[in-house]
Amino acid sequence: EPVYLKDYRPPAFLTPEIELDFVLEPEATLVTSRQTFRRNPKGEGRELVLFGENQDLLALTLNGAPLPPERWRKESDRIVLLDPPDEFTLEVRSRIDPAANTALMGLYISNGVFCTQCEPEGFRRITYFQDRPDVMARYRVRIEADRSACPVLLSNGNPIDRGDLPGGRHWALWEDPFPKPSYLFALVAGDLACLEDEFTTRSGRKVQLRLYSEAANIGQCHHALASLKKAMKWDEDRYGLEYDLDLFQIVAVNDFNFGAMENKGLNIFNTSATLARADTSTDFDFMNVERVIAHEYFHNWTGDRVTCRDWFQLTLKEGLTVFRDQQFSADMHSPGVKRIGDVVFIRDVQFAEDAGPLAHPIRPDRYIEINNFYTATVYQKGAEVIRMLHTLLGEETYRKGIDLYFQRHDGQAVTCEDFVQAMADASGRDLGQFMRWYSQAGTPELEVRRRFDPDRQALTLEIAQRTPPTPGQEEKLPFHIPIRMGLIGRDGTPRRLQLEGENEPKGTERVLELTEPAQRFTFIGLEGGEPVPSLLRGFSAPVKLDAGYSDDELAHLMAHDTDDFVRWDAGQRLASNVLLALVGDHAAGRAPSTLDRRLIDAFAKSLDRAGEDPAFAARMLSLPSSSYLGQQMQVIDVEGIRFALDLARRELGRSLHGAWLAAYRANTDEGPFSIDTAAIARRSLKNLALAYLAYARDEEGQALVRTQYARADNMTDCLSALRLITETGMPESEAALASFYEKWEKEPLVVNKWFSLQAMIEDEAAPERVEHLMAHPAFTWSNPNRVRALLGSFAMMNLVGFHRRDGAGYRLLTDKVLELDRRNPQVAARLLSALGRWRRFDEHRQSLMRAELERVVATPGLSRDSYEIASKSLA
Ligand code: ARG
Ligand code: ZN
Repeated sequence: EPVYLKDYRPPAFLTPEIELDFVLEPEATLVTSRQTFRRNPKGEGRELVLFGENQDLLALTLNGAPLPPERWRKESDRIVLLDPPDEFTLEVRSRIDPAANTALMGLYISNGVFCTQCEPEGFRRITYFQDRPDVMARYRVRIEADRSACPVLLSNGNPIDRGDLPGGRHWALWEDPFPKPSYLFALVAGDLACLEDEFTTRSGRKVQLRLYSEAANIGQCHHALASLKKAMKWDEDRYGLEYDLDLFQIVAVNDFNFGAMENKGLNIFNTSATLARADTSTDFDFMNVERVIAHEYFHNWTGDRVTCRDWFQLTLKEGLTVFRDQQFSADMHSPGVKRIGDVVFIRDVQFAEDAGPLAHPIRPDRYIEINNFYTATVYQKGAEVIRMLHTLLGEETYRKGIDLYFQRHDGQAVTCEDFVQAMADASGRDLGQFMRWYSQAGTPELEVRRRFDPDRQALTLEIAQRTPPTPGQEEKLPFHIPIRMGLIGRDGTPRRLQLEGENEPKGTERVLELTEPAQRFTFIGLEGGEPVPSLLRGFSAPVKLDAGYSDDELAHLMAHDTDDFVRWDAGQRLASNVLLALVGDHAAGRAPSTLDRRLIDAFAKSLDRAGEDPAFAARMLSLPSSSYLGQQMQVIDVEGIRFALDLARRELGRSLHGAWLAAYRANTDEGPFSIDTAAIARRSLKNLALAYLAYARDEEGQALVRTQYARADNMTDCLSALRLITETGMPESEAALASFYEKWEKEPLVVNKWFSLQAMIEDEAAPERVEHLMAHPAFTWSNPNRVRALLGSFAMMNLVGFHRRDGAGYRLLTDKVLELDRRNPQVAARLLSALGRWRRFDEHRQSLMRAELERVVATPGLSRDSYEIASKSLA
């Protein structure tokens, strides 16, 4: 049943051209496709396989004549042509039912708007086609629909012609000059409002920009459009890449399985990644829209112009494009703070994935359902792998490699080897060992031992690497790991770096390359005593690092290092040490009521310096997440983590009360709302200060929360206050939730926040509350955002509620996932992965979680998606 990378064969036929004709009706859309075929000189076999699902095949003709039965056969998900001629045209007519398409793959209807999602294998739900990314065709698309229901008719490329028809109907013809794989096909038809703008590329091409949404939402699309222009400019400046058509279109729809999709010239977006307005969207939403708009735009080159040979290569386009959107966001805002945010995600989500039963390399070598591989590993760890290449080669050589990649492969469907080969050729470096990052799963663990020889004024770092086994990969070979580093002297200044055998020091920062299981690096000429090594600067590799730092050394790095990531990470280590000790106390039946002074002092120092960089300070003053703490325990201690975090927050709130109050005031902006980076930074620190004041649970803090909730003129401040009201159980909790709903019930994205906030309240009543909310009139299974807001937030972000000892959380999730699985397997399977970490919990919880997974696997008619997640979780 699985598909294997090693079984890849080039397609038997090429499909240079396809004409598609749509006669749109919600319940019976007629699709006619005319495809030209040419035998592929590199292909093998005499059969041609065309995949097709969820459609009624009405007619099939080859070169205009019906196909005799002995020339083809039909199977449940495909037709097979037996020994067709070397060149021919095939016409396929079929009928599909977009209104009944609840999987949201292929052609479906969202709030009355026809739209498509074809990546990875949705095109086969539209017509019969080879539907694999290495088959690239030129598309000509005619769309016919009811004029009043669908005044707007869109597809990829350029509008060629349009006209009216009798009976209140009309049509439009589109042509995309760039050959593309079927997963990049898109069609939209509906009653949509449009925001228009223009961008002139650096070589003078005038590009029309059109952003479509339902009329009610169009006022919230300005930020997305502005972000698009920034992204277009940035890609020219940083990568020398220009847009290549005269028209770029984005359409925002309500019902979408994930964030957005990079269809050539016609990106389709989830409204959650498009709409942004101060009163309805948080600062996070604003940044997220900017990031996703950029990500999809950047795909035009890294994905569309050069695409993937097969779906195993997914990280070729996703890892690279995520790296590019990370660079973009860093350039638009604060690089250090952006990097810390990315690291938090990698550690909280990707490291957890890498340590569980669903671990896979960034390029998997087998899958049952490719939809299950749009993961943090393929995307974010994939981006880390590109970042390591950037670190090893340096900006200039990396750019040469990128240029060479496009020079060689523009218009092709290629592999990860092709990409790394371009980097190797441009740099003259051997990246053979580096390729292991593509094939070995798991998070490498580095252990650093230090020895300082005062007589020789020499510091030796002995660095060892080891990668724990992952499913199917018991033994790992050593990785090629770049370690960006410096040495911080006792006086707090950076030391110059001279390795043994070198004639003179070279700068104060360098990149060590670890390629062996263990390696030694000796720095000499270190006058002034033993320095503290600052390692893995900028998180230069996705690894866990144990450098055996003392608390004093961590404090030294926090105070003096030049690297934002290392300073922050030193703080996180200190906090983790203190929190894990509290968890240990709790488990041993001791329940301390005070917090280790070291953590309070460290926070006090960070607060002192908060004015230097409020966004960075907000990061420094945030405690490690329960996910990150859990990863550092043999057995995840649910109650212990809760106890430790509660105590730490309360005590930090109490003992630094005055400083939090000062920070709150200093970072409160009077005057009109602004969304610029500095204003966002101040709000982040202000709301963090407010949180600690609320955690202290005194009158003054609660009064501030109340006032902020009442007066807020933006969603960031409003939601921060509401969250604190509910989280700390203030008496007006119920009333505040009710008034919030009443105020925003017409804004679906805000209603999602309302659901999500309640699903995340970490109390024992959470499972019942979530179940109760499913009966709320605003809850619906047909909108993935709503499902994720309620069920996803509960299963992924509510440690105490989801893992309640009696198993009510597990049962609820499983019941609902099984219902959802029949409607939308992709979203169902994703939620199911919350049970994947069952082995990390105590025996009691293990058996409860395992029982639910077994119930899933035993369910008749289960989707491939959910089957793969559940069965691998149990293996
Ligand atoms: N290519 C899209 C993006 O990264 C996401 C497609 C996700 N597809 C999926 N089946 N989960 O922007
Ligand atoms: Zn992407």
